[in-house]
Amino acid sequence: MSSSRFDLVIINGVVATAADCGSYCIGIKDGKIAALAQAFSPEEIGDAEVLDAEGAYVTPGGIDAHVHIAQDLTTGPGVASGATCADDFDTGSRSAVAGGTTTMVAFAMQTKEDPSLLQVVEDYHKRASDTGCWIDWSYHIIISRVDKDTIRPELDALVKDWGITSLKCFTTYDALRLSDHDLMWLMLEARRLGVTTMMHAESGDIIAFLTEKLEERGMTAPSFHGQSRLPIAEGEATTRAIVLAELVQTPVLFVHVSAASAADAIRAAQSRGLPIFAETCPQYLHLTHADLERFHGPLCFENSKMLCSPPPGLNDDDQEHLWTGLRNGTFTIYSSDHCPFSFKYVPNGCPGIETRLPLLFNYGLMTGRITPEKFVELTSTGAAKLYGMYPKKGALLPGLSDADITVWYPEGKLKPFKLTNEHLHHDVDYTPYEGMEFANWPRYTILRGKIMWKEGKLLGKAGDGLYMKRGESQLAKSPVGMKKDPRRVPLWLHDE
Ligand SMILES: *[C@@H]1O[C@H](CO)[C@@H](O)[C@H](O)[C@H]1NC(C)=O
Repeated sequence: MSSSRFDLVIINGVVATAADCGSYCIGIKDGKIAALAQAFSPEEIGDAEVLDAEGAYVTPGGIDAHVHIAQDLTTGPGVASGATCADDFDTGSRSAVAGGTTTMVAFAMQTKEDPSLLQVVEDYHKRASDTGCWIDWSYHIIISRVDKDTIRPELDALVKDWGITSLKCFTTYDALRLSDHDLMWLMLEARRLGVTTMMHAESGDIIAFLTEKLEERGMTAPSFHGQSRLPIAEGEATTRAIVLAELVQTPVLFVHVSAASAADAIRAAQSRGLPIFAETCPQYLHLTHADLERFHGPLCFENSKMLCSPPPGLNDDDQEHLWTGLRNGTFTIYSSDHCPFSFKYVPNGCPGIETRLPLLFNYGLMTGRITPEKFVELTSTGAAKLYGMYPKKGALLPGLSDADITVWYPEGKLKPFKLTNEHLHHDVDYTPYEGMEFANWPRYTILRGKIMWKEGKLLGKAGDGLYMKRGESQLAKSPVGMKKDPRRVPLWLHDE
């Protein structure tokens, strides 16, 4: 460590945060943001390393709050597909940092066979420790069986010892889905602990019914995936889960929202003042049913590259609806739902941890669909606040924030190129965005003051990332201030 005021300074940047955007220099010391100023004097810069942004956007490092990595697919929804998870903590986070992301939250998944949540987290953490990670990371816990006596003390321990302050549950997949009764029980526990409930909302019964009928008719090719998971299935489960959340009076975040009907139900709940939050993902802004059908043929599984659940929308209208929601505040976060499953196994999910930021930058910010401030809120600050990482992450506040920074290319500097899978740093054998054009990409990715990615080259190593305990959500609070009618809401539920 040098004795000068800064270790690294970034000059000539257009610094965008969720709050504002302007020309600032950033001074970094000991891995933290130390100062923001119009300019630094040569004395202030001293012998610090100087990085010239050349007028490009400089944004807080991306936070990907929804990634599947190093998951065991012999259980859970991947079971029987024969698939394995192509990315471990090393390759997945390497891909992340090459795409401007400096923090990720991955899923420790309890299966029906695992009674102990703590054991699940310890086992999963061992996988992360074995390979190391290129970026900072944390876990959400997926709960697939509700053993009330075990879960209560374990959830307490997860919050206190691990800083895991979010749990995810499912309304579909036989291996994971919970009954409404169990969902309410969990929501009440989550409320007691100040933990955020994440919901995968698709009606398991509608999907099972349609799948059975499709199978009876021999309609089993990958393109029929969309037919088995119609938007109405997502709309129904979303509406139902909002009812349960209102009954229990607890915040819920809906993951990977794809259907306009689900977005509308969420918006309506928000308008009534309920703490309902939503996430959407790049696949729902850039893919449609047409992509599922494009390659359809009896022996051709090319279209399995576009499979995910819920599936992409029917047409461009659905995409426009989601863009509106990104602009108008319906969505708090934009995550990848990175599912690194090789396509020969007909994967359920798409890889996207590296393309997430560049897609929204090129197709959202550069096209004027969203402002730079909105870009930062959706890719970083929203997740930091929702999942209890703010302002250490998701901000550039002197003295408070880690120096996690993405520096983009100045306009016109990067030759526009068509993406191919060879550009990417994951271990997956395809990208659903093959052939899409990009005119910008992260030029530098900085993790706690260390340059990890520079003009197409990786500089750091797996092991530079740190596990992070998270605190209580700064956004998702139970709606204590709202006036409630005890004849409509069972307020006695919360008496100890
Ligand atoms: C905001 O976007 C959502 C879709 O996500 C939509 O349902 C709603 O009508 C929009 N609200 C306004 C006021 O435009």
